[in-house]
Amino acid sequence: MPVHAARGRRPDRAARIASLVLATCAAAAPLAAWPQAGAPAGRPAAAASGPASFEQRFAVCLACHGASGQSQTPLTPSLGGQPAFFAMTQLFLLRDGRRGEPVMIEQARGMSNDDLRAFADAISKLPPPRPPTDEADPLRFERGRALAVQHRCGVCHNPDFSGREQMPRLANQREDYLLKAMREFSSGKRLGYGAAMTQELSGLSDTDLTDLAHFFAHQPPANAAGR
Ligand code: HEC
Ligand code: HEC
Repeated sequence: MPVHAARGRRPDRAARIASLVLATCAAAAPLAAWPQAGAPAGRPAAAASGPASFEQRFAVCLACHGASGQSQTPLTPSLGGQPAFFAMTQLFLLRDGRRGEPVMIEQARGMSNDDLRAFADAISKLPPPRPPTDEADPLRFERGRALAVQHRCGVCHNPDFSGREQMPRLANQREDYLLKAMREFSSGKRLGYGAAMTQELSGLSDTDLTDLAHFFAHQPPANAAGR
């Protein structure tokens, strides 16, 4: 496993990002001010054809991320059930190109702070994703469960992995996306809102990450496992 060469600098950068995100949240107008249709607040009015409504803009997001919060697109996360604050922090990082893939950075680039807030709020109201239709491999599920207990992933992500505040929901997220995210934290490619994840995954092998992804993706609907 690669050594995290940049680790010494990481907490500094992370702290700077954290304060930027908090400043953005504080600066954003109350959500009630979001216009249901018409020009988004804080942006110049668009030309003759008229700006897209928020619903129309959100429909573009869901074309990739899945209607009803459940993604059918490879390597593209389900957004259903994600805490608003987590979505907000990630949109902030994506807008600045500090994480993510070009397709998504492009989506976030022009967003105003009010946009971040409105999309984060809309995301948090989508229903959580359902378990996948394929059965879990019992051996890999059990190995993943044991690792999650041993490394206390539930302390931050909640015992049922439903997420809270800046910590994402992991339960029933797409397995391919969970693995990609963990590999990127582990290699130092994905810069988080904080340094937590790179630290939490240090010492875990790629097989461990694969088993963890399998376990989180296959949570029962009640999310009762993994305590
Ligand atoms: C063309 C497909 C596409 C569109 C359209 C799109 N996204 Fe994404 N989005 C992605 C991909 C791919 C990722 C994963 C990036 C990565 O691997 O780091 C992502 C990641 C995210 C994340 C981070 C979630 C997490 O769990 O890490 C959020 C939040 C998000 N998108 C919100 C939005 C919003 C809001 C819109 C609409 C304004 C939108 N997306 C439109 C493809 C898309
Ligand atoms: C100290 C708190 C903490 C602990 C413990 C923790 N996490 Fe996280 N995790 C976070 C935070 C905060 C994020 C959001 C990423 C960021 O920093 O921007 C995150 C993000 C993630 C993501 C990305 C999901 C997405 O949708 O983008 C995965 C996957 C993940 N964690 C898995 C794990 C696993 C597996 C463990 C246990 C080995 C674990 N986490 C333990 C705080 C924690």
